Amino acid sequence: MTLPFTATTAATTGQRTGTARHYLMCRPEFFTVSYSINPWMDPDAGADTARAVQQWESLRRAYESLGHRVSLIDPVDGLPDMVFAANGALIVEGRVYGARFAHAERVAEGPAYLRWFADRGFETLEASFTNEGEGDYLTLDEMILAGTGFRTDVAAHMEAQEFLGRPVVTLRLVDPRFYHLDTALFPLDGTNVAYYPEAFSAGSRKVLKRLFPDALIASAADAEVLGLNAVSDGRNVVLNAEATGLALELKRRGYEVVPVDLSELRKAGGGPKCCTLEIRP
Ligand code: ARG
Repeated sequence: MTLPFTATTAATTGQRTGTARHYLMCRPEFFTVSYSINPWMDPDAGADTARAVQQWESLRRAYESLGHRVSLIDPVDGLPDMVFAANGALIVEGRVYGARFAHAERVAEGPAYLRWFADRGFETLEASFTNEGEGDYLTLDEMILAGTGFRTDVAAHMEAQEFLGRPVVTLRLVDPRFYHLDTALFPLDGTNVAYYPEAFSAGSRKVLKRLFPDALIASAADAEVLGLNAVSDGRNVVLNAEATGLALELKRRGYEVVPVDLSELRKAGGGPKCCTLEIRP
């Protein structure tokens, strides 16, 4: 991607500090679009598995070249959306709150992800309420932002708060294209966020404005290419290459932009963040 101001970016990135992260990812070997549980998915159009794997590999390489550690969970035949690891759990301070999927097609992913963590000695909690992991929970230093409206039940917000001991702030999503919180908002660092206001209810917009007066406000054009499904380490922001307006604004604010092409995975409604579950020690 060629954007203006590249030289400026290199000069200003010194202002931002990133931290090395640990991510869990799932190779999309069985990825396809065979059912529809969000408006992005068209089973008649399907998806190209080999191309999805190539794009996913470039995402994984991007993380590794930024110095992040990537662990892998084995994909399961018959679970085409398992590549969207963000939905598999929520991990804060080494404690793993398990996912409980809203749709029958994905229910088996919850136990598969929870087992991965239990087998490695993590403290886990099997959820009593419907929630789709980091798809709907985004963790900041002092709070966890939690989406509801399409997938995650508000009762799960309370359950997560109780288990993790960090305040959970409920946000209501209202546009079916932005069915998970991570399709409409991402943390820039531990204290600030970027988001697309129109994806939220009027009350939740007020809450976001109050909590994040300095937030980066994204345009409809950037939201519609799933530009907000991005992953920041505090300095480097990995995001869909098509989100060019967002990329410019991030550079202006001193972030290093790492564009990726995940167009094949977008056919299932997913982007970089969806493919990435952060393991927070
Ligand atoms: N097809 C998947 C679903 O509808 C996509 C999940 C995307 N994941 C995410 N974290 N937003 O559940």
